[in-house]
Amino acid sequence: MRVVLGVSGGIAAYKAASLLRRFTESGHDVTVVPTEAALQFVGAPTWAALSGHPVATDVWTAVDRVPHVRIGQDADLVVVAPATADLLAKAATGQAGDLLTATLLTARCPVVFAPAMHTEMWLHPATQANVATLRSRGAHVIEPSSGRLTGADTGPGRLPEPEDLYAACLAVVAAADPAVRAEAAGDDPHGDVRGDLRGVRVLVTAGGTREALDPVRYLGNRSSGKQGVALAQVAAARGAEVTLVACNLSAAVGGSGSGGAIRVVPVESALDLQAAVTTACADVDVVVMCAAVADFRPKHYVETKIKKTHAADGSDDSAPVIELVRNPDILAGLVVGRGAAARPIIVGFAAETGDETGSVVELARVKLARKGCDLLVANEVGATKTFGEDTNTVHLLFADGRPVVTVGPATKSDVAAAVWDGIQVLLPAAH
Ligand code: C5P
Repeated sequence: MRVVLGVSGGIAAYKAASLLRRFTESGHDVTVVPTEAALQFVGAPTWAALSGHPVATDVWTAVDRVPHVRIGQDADLVVVAPATADLLAKAATGQAGDLLTATLLTARCPVVFAPAMHTEMWLHPATQANVATLRSRGAHVIEPSSGRLTGADTGPGRLPEPEDLYAACLAVVAAADPAVRAEAAGDDPHGDVRGDLRGVRVLVTAGGTREALDPVRYLGNRSSGKQGVALAQVAAARGAEVTLVACNLSAAVGGSGSGGAIRVVPVESALDLQAAVTTACADVDVVVMCAAVADFRPKHYVETKIKKTHAADGSDDSAPVIELVRNPDILAGLVVGRGAAARPIIVGFAAETGDETGSVVELARVKLARKGCDLLVANEVGATKTFGEDTNTVHLLFADGRPVVTVGPATKSDVAAAVWDGIQVLLPAAH
């Protein structure tokens, strides 16, 4: 794949040289576009020698080849690492004063920014607003790592390690375009991405539970099951053996592409789901808990339809009180049940809106720690977002500290592909 590596002027520019090596060693063709400031940290000869391509910062070099347009147009991926506060501001406001910013305006491929700066600059509302603007336009802004910064100070703002950036870039490309994924697979020494889950046994839960009140009524939720079905279908198409525990799906499971059949286990309530998952999880490598599980169920199930009562005087304003009890947290139970074993890899989902106590990613990080799973997929939800919709924005948070991968707005199939790419990174360690 043709990669443009943008490098802006921060001390972490030295790490971009390793990222460049990671791409070229995997057979990708990389054009480095540094800013003038980046050259203060790492010089043009380094970029030219490592990439095998000439390097320019301005739009006037080799102008007969119109580089300020062509480089961006020809790219399959643009990754800016490190992305400084200044570069993010220029990109968010559509400036085009040098070759890198012009390239960002002409690129129509996935664009990844890996910010690196001091914590104060990263957390400043101006920077956060620029990040939000870039994300709203479809760019992928990777959360910086926390840790040692340039001096003795520590905090969020570190550029993630090159290996993690590389994995995040591949996940973003895979989510964006299956054709590019295939191309990337051709370049990838690990081989065929489409069959990359062959032999892997996975359990996916999808839909929303229904907690019965009486034979005709239940407490339910709005989950359509589309995302879980997409996860099952993508896994099957990539060669996995898939069991889908289906909670009251409104989406059809349908075929499984070129992969094997999906075994569907229909369930209704959280307790049914728990029984099905507990039985199946002994024989799987991965459990993806995508289903929306009710946290509470009616304490008593009424065997016959609950009726309105009428007082002797004919008044009819009384209403039954429904007492609820907590359902087990199935996901957290799976983690406890696994104990010290390496398998299965356990993936949770979290629907988050963000609130005054934190952003979607911050709240999800707390939930990841509380649930103890290996990967948490945080879904941005709101009144008009996600439920029953065909597109979705998610953040992938890894328990092992890899950088957050943001995907979307993307179709639920593309989100599913990115989730499996994330899981795949974790799989070798668990085998
Ligand atoms: O705590 P919260 O409901 O936000 O967590 C969502 C995640 O936990 C999902 O992966 C969901 O499938 C799982 N869950 C569960 N059992 C519950 C509630 C949620 O397994 N009772």
